Order: sequence, then C-alpha cells, then structure tokens
Amino acid sequence: MSIQIRNLTKNYDTEGTEPVCALSGAGLDIHSGDFVGVMGQTGCGKSTLMQLIAGLITPSEGSVVIDGMDIFSSSCDYSRLRSSVGVVFQYPESQLFETTVGKDVAFGLRHLPLEPKEKRERVRWALSSMGFDPDVIEDVSPLGLSGGERRRVAIAGILAVKPAYLLLDEPIAGLDPEGRIRFMDFLRARNEEGTTIIMISHNADCLAEYANRIIVLEAGRIIRDATPEELFCDVEWVHDHGLEVSQAAHLAARLRKDGWEIPPGVFRQNDLKDAILRTLPGVPEH
Ligand SMILES: Nc1ncnc2c1ncn2[C@@H]1O[C@H](COP(=O)(O)OP(=O)(O)OP(=O)(O)O)[C@@H](O)[C@H]1O
Ligand SMILES: [Mg+2]
Repeated sequence: MSIQIRNLTKNYDTEGTEPVCALSGAGLDIHSGDFVGVMGQTGCGKSTLMQLIAGLITPSEGSVVIDGMDIFSSSCDYSRLRSSVGVVFQYPESQLFETTVGKDVAFGLRHLPLEPKEKRERVRWALSSMGFDPDVIEDVSPLGLSGGERRRVAIAGILAVKPAYLLLDEPIAGLDPEGRIRFMDFLRARNEEGTTIIMISHNADCLAEYANRIIVLEAGRIIRDATPEELFCDVEWVHDHGLEVSQAAHLAARLRKDGWEIPPGVFRQNDLKDAILRTLPGVPEH
C-alpha cells in the first residue's frame, strides 16, 4: 500500500497570459501508515499537489500510482479510487448541498456495497467524531449551520467513507482550539488504525505534534522531506524559507540563546516542558 508520485507537473492554462506553473517535477513516495504534513507559503502549490493525488485534476506531466493503480491512465477504476482516497477540500463547507445534514454525510456512501443499517451507523459515527450529537443534527438543514459547523459536517461526509488515504487541505483552519485538538486526536486514532493521512496545514504546532513526516513546498517544488524533528530543529532554514517552526522549537532555541540548558531535538510542547523542569533546581526527574 503506497502512493508513488513521479515528475508531477501542473501548468494551469490562463486566458491571454503565460500558463501558471503550480507544480514542477514533484517526486514522492507516501507509505502506508504515514501521517504526512504539507507546508509552504501561500500559492506554492499545496492544493494543486493534493488535487492531483486525488485525481481531481490532470497533470501536465508525470504520474501518480496508488496501490498499483495509475490514476491518470484510461483504465483507472474511478469508483475504487473514490472509495480509497477521501479528500477534504480547503473550503469544504461550500460542498454541502443536500436538504439535511444526515443526507449530506450519507452522500459519499451511496455507491458503497453496505447494508442500510451500516450506512446509518457510519453517518452517526462520523457526526459524533466531529463533535455533533447525531440525534440532534441529522435532520437539520445545513443552511442553518454556522461556517465552522458546516465545515465539520463536510468533513464527516468524507470520514464516513473510511478511505484508506485521507487527504486534508487546511482542515483545522475554521475550528476553535478545543475542536482542533479533538479533530487532530481523532485523525491520530484513524492513523493508528492504519489510515494514511496527508494534511496541508500552516499550523506548525499541529504538525509537530501529529505528523511523522513533513513535506515543504516552495514555488511549485518539493524542497524538503523530513521528520518534524529534523525540520523544526532547523529553525534558521525554516525561517529562511518564510515559514514558522513550532512554538516549542522556537522557545527552545530562544532559551538556549539565553544560556538555558535545553538539549537538542526539542520541538514538542511536552518535551520542552520536561526540558525546562530538568533545568530547575530541586525538581525530581520523572
Ligand atoms: N485553476 C487555476 N487556474 C490558474 N491558476 C491557478 C489555478 N489554481 C491555482 N492556480 C495558481 O497555481 C499556484 C498554486 O496554487 P495552489 O492553490 O496550489 O497553492 P496553495 O499552496 O494551495 O496556496 P494557499 O496556501 O493559498 O492555499 C498559484 O499561483 C495559484 O494562483
Ligand atoms: Mg491551497
């Protein structure tokens, strides 16, 4: 189980002007069980890369092979692709169009070979995973929900399909801090069960805590493929490329400059807390 991306290039045709090169020669192997974060400045090609991996747009050059399936070949089985790759778009709330929340979440299940009872259970499971009470929300019209709620409903619709690969484009942008942690913990649980996750985010703290690998894009090119530790401990490199490291990595670097004995490799909140405690006199090791 893997995704192999080779020489992936996308030029968008624009009327009257030069085509825009959004992605250039990207090569990447994503392994089953990965939790990959994708970072990069605005306009660097992140959404383009994700839409290509999902087969939603066609490349100008290159290939994407998912579990042996060349997704741009004429023989690609699109229904298999749709059920194994789930995509949460950058603004998923605009995808809702059914008359009730329950119908909307069930939409992606309509072609899956599941009993009606299991479909209903999946809808309820996905809604509660996104923090809703299914009894309360199922029959409500999506039109009456707030933007953040609509986003959670749209994400529930993708989760209900239980895809092997979950691609998420800025999924936490509209969530409040508590909802964000709940959602990220939920993603981690799915990842531990075997779902491969690729998540675009500007939130370095979330990627530091949850991803096992981070891809950095710049002007349509993949310029780094590293563990969160390698990336976020390379504070200068990250800043030179116009990005932020996690707050813990930032603070660790700052404290070291001020003479604190913070060991290398600290980039997560808890590790920083432990490192600070260890520098304080009289605090027992634990
Ligand atoms: N449909 C399109 N037609 C023309 N140009 C496009 C199209 N979609 C994207 N682009 C251009 O391609 C480049 C990459 O866009 P993309 O949306 O992939 O970036 P991004 O990294 O997701 O940005 P953001 O962080 O703002 O979401 C940008 O210059 C963008 O303007
Ligand atoms: Mg984008």
